[in-house]
Amino acid sequence: MTECADHVALVTGAGGGIGAACARRLAAAGATVVVTDVDEASAKNVAAELEQSGARALALPLDVTDPQAAVDAVAETVRTFGRLDLALNNAGISLPRQALDAVPVELWQRVVETNLSGVFYCMRAEIPAMLEAGGGSIVNMASVLGVVGFGELSPYVAAKHGVIGLTKTAAIEYASRGIRVNAVAPSFADTQMLTVGITPRKARAAALLAPMARLVTPDEVAEVTVFLLSARASAVTGSVHLIDCGYAAR
Ligand code: NAI
Repeated sequence: MTECADHVALVTGAGGGIGAACARRLAAAGATVVVTDVDEASAKNVAAELEQSGARALALPLDVTDPQAAVDAVAETVRTFGRLDLALNNAGISLPRQALDAVPVELWQRVVETNLSGVFYCMRAEIPAMLEAGGGSIVNMASVLGVVGFGELSPYVAAKHGVIGLTKTAAIEYASRGIRVNAVAPSFADTQMLTVGITPRKARAAALLAPMARLVTPDEVAEVTVFLLSARASAVTGSVHLIDCGYAAR
């Protein structure tokens, strides 16, 4: 698999879960991978694992709620590897389920700042570097909950719907300058996140509502994500790809 050879990719929230699976899949596709996470130790672990497998990798601390940190991470990427071609804006958080009127304002702000503004801050930093490199490809991590509603997760659902709007807008703005921007929308995946926002038991119950009646795996998300990042998806931009075992089809 060499579809991303000679490409430099930056992944946010890559210290675990879906982001780490995507970083591994990008490395397997030949990309140089900049593994970023607010948890620097986890980013270092993943980068070390990629290097051991023969890939070029770099770990960087990046809290996506800090616009300057996003600019700095992109600058460090370009300083180290000379360019930025691919970006996966994946970092996100969930929250305990509660009705809208019980959601503390600070929690709303934290979820929207991380899951939506974080994607904006990162794209705002990544796009100039991609224009400099002559083009690029971005995938933003939405969710099936960016396409359909889900009770008692209003900040998360609203932020993920916002990610899709942001993705479509960026795709329109940069298509003529060689940057494709797409979103992926997984349903419930068995990662650390499920222990926060929705218990594993409830997630499994929700997943059973999908025609395929199961959770999605991080590797399944990585497969579609890396396809979209690669030139194999050269005519695909502004689109949202459900990876949801059919959840939203009903
Ligand atoms: P996870 O909790 O396993 O991993 C999230 C990673 O993001 C962690 O390494 C964490 O340290 C990092 N992170 C958290 N806040 C950050 C910040 N401010 N800046 C940078 N990094 C930060 O979660 P998972 O499941 O891998 O989630 C990844 C993305 O996939 C998220 O955007 C999530 O909303 C989305 N997603 C997850 C689904 C699931 O069921 N697990 C389903 C659909 C979408």
